[in-house]
Amino acid sequence: MSKWLLADNLVRLADDRAKPASEGNRRFHERRCGEGRKRINMKTRIIGTGSCLPETVVTNDDLSKLMDTSDEWISSRTGIRERHLVKEETTASMSVEAAKRAMENAGVTAEDLDLIILGTVSPDFVTPACACEVQAAIGAHRAVAFDINAACSGFMFALNIANAYIQAGIYKTALILGAETLSKIVDWEDRSTCVLFGDGAGAAVVCADENCGMLAFDQGSDGTKGEVLACPGRANNNPLVKTYQKMPYVHMDGQEVYKFAVTTVPASLQKTIEAAGLAPDDIDYFALHQANIRIIQSVSKRLRITEDKFPVSLDHCGNISAASVPILLDEMNRKGLLKPGMKVALSGFGGGLTWASAVIEW
Ligand code: UT7
Repeated sequence: MSKWLLADNLVRLADDRAKPASEGNRRFHERRCGEGRKRINMKTRIIGTGSCLPETVVTNDDLSKLMDTSDEWISSRTGIRERHLVKEETTASMSVEAAKRAMENAGVTAEDLDLIILGTVSPDFVTPACACEVQAAIGAHRAVAFDINAACSGFMFALNIANAYIQAGIYKTALILGAETLSKIVDWEDRSTCVLFGDGAGAAVVCADENCGMLAFDQGSDGTKGEVLACPGRANNNPLVKTYQKMPYVHMDGQEVYKFAVTTVPASLQKTIEAAGLAPDDIDYFALHQANIRIIQSVSKRLRITEDKFPVSLDHCGNISAASVPILLDEMNRKGLLKPGMKVALSGFGGGLTWASAVIEW
């Protein structure tokens, strides 16, 4: 717990102890359910971004030498021209680099961090969490660190969790990341999936701010459709059950995921923009999960917003699941596209199935 909050809580606790029990209970309830929230009223503001892509670039033409595919098929169906794939890099090493760049961009040190949340489906270890590896590597001794698995919505879920902690007054400054080494979990003999994905990490530092930050968010899950984008874990294997298991890889029913994306994403964005008290026209940029240019074009059409408000990184990164949104945001930030006061809508969607959107004031 951060020092400012601890001190604040101790004062309130002492106050409450000095009151009759019923009044102490009422104040406790009000702090949790209304009055406290009004009093705290903090927004979650992104104050810095960073990203890291592996050094090695693999083009569509490179892939067409390895399997029955072509630049024509990949680029016309998806918009992807190339992706970065790891050689020496790991999910943790890319996360650490992205984290350092985000902290430098934000002007904070590791000591300032209360919380680290990292979205990934391709960590280096089952345990420890990749977030704990990042914590150790950057020396964020005070931070609570954990991973979440919400597939391509992972960064957005991490942002919304950090927002909940910040709004509750529990933490003040958080590092959130999306990081993937998808190339180790895709089947390189399945041309319908392996050409789509890439490796990389993106990060953002968020902190409590009285004036601007997150205006609204929406998130959801539909576990009944989990099988349309799945990667099995280890099968049961113990003295009672002996399992011979072929290495499990990602399997995707592309058309089902496509249908889900082009209906759910515009609806979620519409809902979030309305909840922020805005109309789609008021949004300066839409930073969407980078799965397929045709999905982005469809969302732009459904919201009646011109495509120039939808920046793209999938052409040179491919689909990097949880890392897509923060890498795109970092590219936008470093190109100087994001100016104070701008309204930016973010949206992630994918395995679970899961989806999440947010509208932020930069
Ligand atoms: O990040 C998580 C969210 N994921 C997504 O949002 C992905 C959503 N889905 C998609 O983006 C698209 O469905 C894909 C890009 C995955 C596939 O595009 P599609 O237009 O739905 O193609 P398809 O799967 O229907 O395949 C069409 C044809 C098939 O051949 P036939 O059966 O028509 O003869 C495939 O075998 O294209 C063939 N094909 C390929 N051909 C050359 C599939 N993969 C390849 C390939 N190269 N890499």
